[in-house]
Amino acid sequence: MITASTTSRSEVIKWMEDFVGEKFSELLKTVEESWQPADLLPDATLDTFFDEIKDLRERARDLSYDLLAVLVGDTITEEALPSYESWLMTIKGLPQDPDNPWMKWNRGWTAEENRHGDALNRYLYLSGRINMREMEASTQYLLADGFDLQTDMDPYRSFVYTSFQETATNISHRRVAQIAKRQGDQTLAKLCGHVAADEARHAKAYKAFVSKIFEADPNEMMLAFEDMMRKKIVMPAHYMRELGVDIGKTFGHFTDAAQRIGVYTSADYTDILEDLIKEWKIEAMTDLNEAGERARDYLIALPARFKRVAERMKAPALEYKFRWIA
Ligand SMILES: [Fe+2]
Ligand SMILES: [Fe+2]
Repeated sequence: MITASTTSRSEVIKWMEDFVGEKFSELLKTVEESWQPADLLPDATLDTFFDEIKDLRERARDLSYDLLAVLVGDTITEEALPSYESWLMTIKGLPQDPDNPWMKWNRGWTAEENRHGDALNRYLYLSGRINMREMEASTQYLLADGFDLQTDMDPYRSFVYTSFQETATNISHRRVAQIAKRQGDQTLAKLCGHVAADEARHAKAYKAFVSKIFEADPNEMMLAFEDMMRKKIVMPAHYMRELGVDIGKTFGHFTDAAQRIGVYTSADYTDILEDLIKEWKIEAMTDLNEAGERARDYLIALPARFKRVAERMKAPALEYKFRWIA
């Protein structure tokens, strides 16, 4: 155990290596036991392929406009994975040795995530309801535009971010699965259910990383959590746009659609914060310096503040015509 008073972030990261190795085995799946997009979608090597596609297209015909818009936005977000991997690799203090558990984690996480965009993209292509070229252009824009997650490459802030974000993606993919099921598309429901289950494991791992940091460096971890919540957690696709649309403009319409159909709302943002406060036992943390205590008290009071604001917010009514949807 390292003592809090002398702790530097790089020492904490080093101290956590074995722990990260354990979480790697516990919370990431091996390739052999992993699902693949091909398990869930029509197999083009079979004679039944065209019949299966016909069925898939018939079911996709009844999906609502907002659901499709959310699905495309989710897919583009997942397809920007190269940005997220390069972001993870540049977090300060992470050792660059390829055999280090941190690097193994980053690669293993990327390998799992890579299936999400593949599966969703292939489904949308087969559905016949999407203008694929427009969607692909948005993906290229998002990758080229990058993002600003406001984590300053700090490991503590970065793992608050990933804890929050993986939980948010778990919620949104799970809700899309539920809505798809109600709208009669079992294939899509199953696919999004698989993605959601991956996100849940990832969220669990990142939350465990932060719990571990709290053990070693509670004041600094608390300040990092506070700082991220003061700045507000931005979604990784906040620069999303379409051809001919200003940077970030399409993202607003995408989140409006998600809010409208209840896939991801401002109430969910507050729920995630409450979940993190509980998970990291923030209220019970007493052994803090003055700054740490102030940060803790700010965080504890925050969900109630968000709820008061959320009550005054109405679900956005404005419908928008996305170039993505055929
Ligand atoms: Fe994902
Ligand atoms: Fe994820």
